[in-house]
Amino acid sequence: MSKNCNTSAVGSDELIKLGIEGITATILECKSCPLHENATNKVIIRGSERPKVLFIGEAPGKNEDENGIPFCGRAGKVLDELIDHMALEENEYAMINTVKCRPPNNRKPTQNELRTCRPFLVAQIALLDPDVIILLGNTAEQAFCVSSLKWGEAVITQEGKHLMKLYHPAALLYRRTLMRQQKEMIDKNKKLWQKI
Ligand code: URA
Repeated sequence: MSKNCNTSAVGSDELIKLGIEGITATILECKSCPLHENATNKVIIRGSERPKVLFIGEAPGKNEDENGIPFCGRAGKVLDELIDHMALEENEYAMINTVKCRPPNNRKPTQNELRTCRPFLVAQIALLDPDVIILLGNTAEQAFCVSSLKWGEAVITQEGKHLMKLYHPAALLYRRTLMRQQKEMIDKNKKLWQKI
């Protein structure tokens, strides 16, 4: 992740020392931005704690807020279809979001919300330590503090991870052409997770 990106006062290094359980507890207690005020549940992670592939979404929606589980609604069904297409086993992937609380009316997280929640994102990535990071849409790209990634073209990060941006699953709902393109991008890159 870029070193030039602004971060909030809470340090990701401190969070990393707490481990996965400590981060979860800290997120559950977090009141650092107004998003917590309307959150029914904090939405932290779905999937393996040692994933090959880590998907980073935008923000929890209504279903996720109600259940406390990332991608458990309509966009999640699309993501599940993509995961099947990638032939990933249950223990090979995980999903997290740029922010852990649902923004009102499903609006995009603000720059300030992204910045405030970023140490959690950084610490989750460090502890989950995936081989491949898939940013789902432009907000995830922003939160990751990279820019000008090309859709479906993988790069290597300073930490030696494969990083790729794909369309957000919600953008694929009812858009079969886009879904076909997304699957083609996945096919082009499948050696990244299949060779591991
Ligand atoms: N969209 C997201 O970006 N994340 C979720 O968890 C659900 C929908």
